[in-house]
Amino acid sequence: MNKNKLVKDENKIKKRLVELSLLIKKHNIFYHQNDKPQITDAEYDALVIENNKLEKEFPHLIIKNSPNLSTGSPLSNKFEKIHHKLPMLSLQNAFDENDITDFLDRIKKFLNLEKNYKFNFICEPKIDGLSINLNYEFGVLVSASTRGDGKIGENVTNNVKHIQGIPIMLKKNNVPQQVEIRGEIFLNKIDFVKLNNEIEDKNKFSNPRNAAAGSLRQLDSKITRMRPLKFLAHGLGKTTREYLTISDFYRDLKNWGIPINNLSNKYSTIDEMMNYYNQINNIRQDIAYDLDGIVFKINELKLQNRLGFVGKNPRWAIALKFKSEKAITTIKKIDLQVGRTGAITPVARLKEINIGGVLVSNATLHNFDEIEKKDIREGDRVEIQRAGDVIPQVLKVIKKDKNRKKLIEPPKHCPICGELTIKEKDETIIRCVNSKTCDAQILGSLIHFVSKKSFNIEGFGEKQIKQFYKLGFLKNYNDIFNIKKFKKDILSLEGWGDLSFQNLITSINRSKKINLEKFIYSLGIRYVGETLSALIAKEFINIKNLVDSINDKEKLQNIDGLGPKAINSLHKYFQDKHNLKTILNLKNSLEIIDFTQPKSDSLFSNKNIVFTGTLSKLSREEAKHLATQLGAKISSAVSSKTDFVIIGEKPGSKAKKAKELGLTILTEQEWIKKTNV
Ligand code: IVH
Repeated sequence: MNKNKLVKDENKIKKRLVELSLLIKKHNIFYHQNDKPQITDAEYDALVIENNKLEKEFPHLIIKNSPNLSTGSPLSNKFEKIHHKLPMLSLQNAFDENDITDFLDRIKKFLNLEKNYKFNFICEPKIDGLSINLNYEFGVLVSASTRGDGKIGENVTNNVKHIQGIPIMLKKNNVPQQVEIRGEIFLNKIDFVKLNNEIEDKNKFSNPRNAAAGSLRQLDSKITRMRPLKFLAHGLGKTTREYLTISDFYRDLKNWGIPINNLSNKYSTIDEMMNYYNQINNIRQDIAYDLDGIVFKINELKLQNRLGFVGKNPRWAIALKFKSEKAITTIKKIDLQVGRTGAITPVARLKEINIGGVLVSNATLHNFDEIEKKDIREGDRVEIQRAGDVIPQVLKVIKKDKNRKKLIEPPKHCPICGELTIKEKDETIIRCVNSKTCDAQILGSLIHFVSKKSFNIEGFGEKQIKQFYKLGFLKNYNDIFNIKKFKKDILSLEGWGDLSFQNLITSINRSKKINLEKFIYSLGIRYVGETLSALIAKEFINIKNLVDSINDKEKLQNIDGLGPKAINSLHKYFQDKHNLKTILNLKNSLEIIDFTQPKSDSLFSNKNIVFTGTLSKLSREEAKHLATQLGAKISSAVSSKTDFVIIGEKPGSKAKKAKELGLTILTEQEWIKKTNV
């Protein structure tokens, strides 16, 4: 072929690739964002096939805006959000029989029951999949949502309709007006291996759980349909039918054609429970799906209700984890990682190894005392332990390297910014003190800020944050909300296209409306996690109040549940002018929603309550839990702002002070009567 002709042909191909890219992106928008496809699936597929064929044949002509190069997460914006009617919780973990004994003692104490009281427990495998909430109205599946952050999940209704075990319509007539069925979606181990064999290396999933999540969260429900996902029910959400026990609910599920785990059983004593645990552990390898422990949950729903939950964990259930799996590999290198609070953690980079179906290439070495104690060095053969979703850890040296490297010492300077490090009193962790300009701390904070439990900005993960930070587009939280001004620069980056950029902006805009408690959590203040953020939000109600009076130490000291470490940390954070400025700027560009009490017409709604003395009917914990549910704020000290003081036996000085201040004092009996329990 002559050269001119070749150039001419190549120009034609280039032109066609540009056309195809525009067409595919246009139809992506019609299909994915507007939900109104303008061409048939076959016509769309033909465009993609033509594009891919040309790209394969002429890789040197691939354009920057190729539809195959767009990153970001065009997928995730697609899923509409669903507010769960009741929160989707997660389970507290136990690791041995002692933890179960403690659990039993704890709940008996909470419920004020005798030591030898016997509960009825539903015991079943804890499947390592992803949880789903199926909402049926008059027996018809009306929506299905993922767990998300526990309060808001993603609407994946179209995708679950083809999953084995999830009927679009419940069998039989005896169905309630409304019922939420909760359960686990998962892939069998063998299907996970098959799926990984079919896909390209770079897209392979690291475990069946990720594979199940990736398969479910597909925009194109045809892909979900091709993956052999399974479902087993394990819980009840909101319903119009009154159930006394989970067993009663499971009986209904069976009649409706919803599968429950056939290994599920009922036991009462700790011996029976441990026996069941051991039995399942012994046959674990032969079970078709991955399970990482046994769930014990109280069968009686009235007791479940009384026990309620702490943070995100129900008090009425626990997961006893199976012993972790171990393997031996070599440490290639030891890196020092600096976290968002400045903590410097040594991490072992390993020769990749498969531990119980999961590929592991990094393991934590915890801290420098641990490295010294165990004498772990680069090049050594070591034993690695992996347990569930916990970061794998290096247990011990199996064989020392022949030419042993030097022991890694605690750094005197931060490996990232070079600033001095410190070791606080009673702490094992070494920290970089430079919270203001240490790149690792800033990056860590930014990543925390956009993460799921914080602002939850989809399509904005570690990778994108690092990329933008490196290029100077992002320096602080506020820059996130002004990222649009770098549109041109971002679009010129490899992997970014109009669609992915637009999706990012949509996600950022959507995140601007945020609850006060999430906002507080997002700031990443040391010792202030989700639970404490909620307590603080409850106390200060709105952002203005928070900024104006957070330095009122007395007010903080009065919040029941807030300890001295958190109080000091909050105080330090809000004393800092730089932090205050950031918050004020954020306040202007965001819509921070005031804390709202769950609706309650109770006498105690929004009232300040102090408990004192020994209660006889309810445990102190249950009493506080009940008061919180009724919308009350619990304080530890009596003041003129206290509305009710509830006294048990031997009430002491608080009752005396209440009398002096002329406050309303209720005995335990009087209080219980007024709560209508
Ligand atoms: S009962 C926490 N039973 O484990 C609410 N959960 O961390 C009570 N899971 O997201 C859940 N198998 O999706 C329960 N047999 C089982 C389970 C199970 C797996 C998941 C659940 C939840 C997670 C808890």
